[in-house]
Amino acid sequence: MRPVQESAIPTTAPDAVLFRSPQIADGVRLWEIAANTEVLDLNSSYAYLLWCRDFSRSSIVAVVDERIVGFVTGFIRPESPETLFVWQVAVDADQRGKGIAGRMLSSLLDRLAPDGIERLETTISPDNEASIALFTALARHRGMAIAKDELFSPNDFPDGHEAEDLYTIG
Ligand SMILES: CC(C)(COP(=O)(O)OP(=O)(O)OC[C@H]1O[C@@H](n2cnc3c(N)ncnc32)[C@H](O)[C@@H]1OP(=O)(O)O)[C@@H](O)C(=O)NCCC(=O)NCCS
Repeated sequence: MRPVQESAIPTTAPDAVLFRSPQIADGVRLWEIAANTEVLDLNSSYAYLLWCRDFSRSSIVAVVDERIVGFVTGFIRPESPETLFVWQVAVDADQRGKGIAGRMLSSLLDRLAPDGIERLETTISPDNEASIALFTALARHRGMAIAKDELFSPNDFPDGHEAEDLYTIG
């Protein structure tokens, strides 16, 4: 019998992206990815581990070749149980521009829709063009309205942090 050529065995495409909820063991990668962006506020490593335990359902990671390459951390607002607040979104630099961030956000909204989540909020610094483009594209792709309001001014922060505008989708 002819040996089966290795190339004939179906495998997962090397650049296939898997989306799933984070686990505690993923916290280290979330911290690393956030640190590598050099633009996100880097929270303590403890914060990422705790997030992976307690806010896993409202967060998501993207996995390529068994390695986490992007994440979204979010929570359901206690005062507004139909609202997902997205805290941080990041994708490894060599994986950007492939739609991974947009697909993470869409997958998360799809997953939470049965729970009655119909609105997304996030804050963005006025100079973060990539983030503004990401959320504007998300609203457009999903046919949802997007609105911007002032939320935190530099005076609200103790450390010269930039303003953070509130974007509401839905
Ligand atoms: C912002 C970030 C998460 C985008 O990740 P990504 O996987 O490259 O984004 P996507 O490929 O899913 O792009 C989604 C949309 O945003 C647009 N976009 C993404 N990055 C962009 C950029 N730098 N400039 C302009 N548009 C951009 C894309 O064109 C796309 O729109 P489209 O669907 O109409 O084509 C990534 O650049 C990143 O990690 N940046 C550093 C961290 C950060 O700033 N996070 C956001 C604040 S929490």
